[in-house]
Amino acid sequence: MTTTRGLRKQTGEEPITMLTAYDAPTASIIEDAGIDVILVGDSMGNAVLGYDSTIPVTMDDIASRTGAVARATEETLVVADLPFLSFGADEAESIHNAGRLLKEEGADAVKIESGDHTVALTEALVDVGIPVMGHLGLTPQHVNELGYARQGTDREAAESIIELAEAHEAAGAFALVLEHVPANLAAAITERLEIPTIGIGAGPECDGQVLVITDVLGLNDWSPSFSEQFGDVGAETRRAVAAYRDAVTDGSFPADEHSYVEEDLEDLDDAGEGETRR
Ligand code: KIV
Repeated sequence: MTTTRGLRKQTGEEPITMLTAYDAPTASIIEDAGIDVILVGDSMGNAVLGYDSTIPVTMDDIASRTGAVARATEETLVVADLPFLSFGADEAESIHNAGRLLKEEGADAVKIESGDHTVALTEALVDVGIPVMGHLGLTPQHVNELGYARQGTDREAAESIIELAEAHEAAGAFALVLEHVPANLAAAITERLEIPTIGIGAGPECDGQVLVITDVLGLNDWSPSFSEQFGDVGAETRRAVAAYRDAVTDGSFPADEHSYVEEDLEDLDDAGEGETRR
């Protein structure tokens, strides 16, 4: 079983593998593949809930899908994202929301899109026993301020991300996602921190990598340039749905093996003749 403490630094070992999942069957496939960490990300907003950002994602959205993922897995570390405004406004409410994902839904840890405002909160969560994964660089919950632009591209911005990374490590975070930052900045942070870094669009020098599952499977119309499609489940889904439609319309489904006849009821056809609706 992967634990937050067991997540390793890369130093000579295999990189950490992390993928998002939002449902039980996908989580089960990911666990069977031996992926270390599943993130129930608020990326579900764009990936599966039909929103054009993560802003509308609610605690209930994250909670129900965290429960599904946790029930489908035993070995994999399950990290649940805290959605927009579920943290940061009030410390007690943030702790309550994070705690709910562990206590009621079976998450092992939470992830928080991080900034100056989450250093003290990270410490408070860790103090009460809630492991925290930080997230720096591009933080999609700030889309209305920053868009989806690459972060840390000038020296001042890069230094401020380094400072925040160190502050979150000192506050007790067990790992840090680095999103859409220059590879050399991610490498510098990885070098400085004792805790592992997990990159997305942050180059190969991080201790691990994460991608959004629907990008990996080819289920999205659009995916970021730093992502990679490793399969075409979209094409296979379209093929299967069209085959089902054709089989129903041409009468080949359901076939004899899909239904049964109850002998005791055989006279129903005669008794009901003329009275059945179809
Ligand atoms: O919500 C999410 O899936 C994420 C990953 C892209 C790191 O934050």
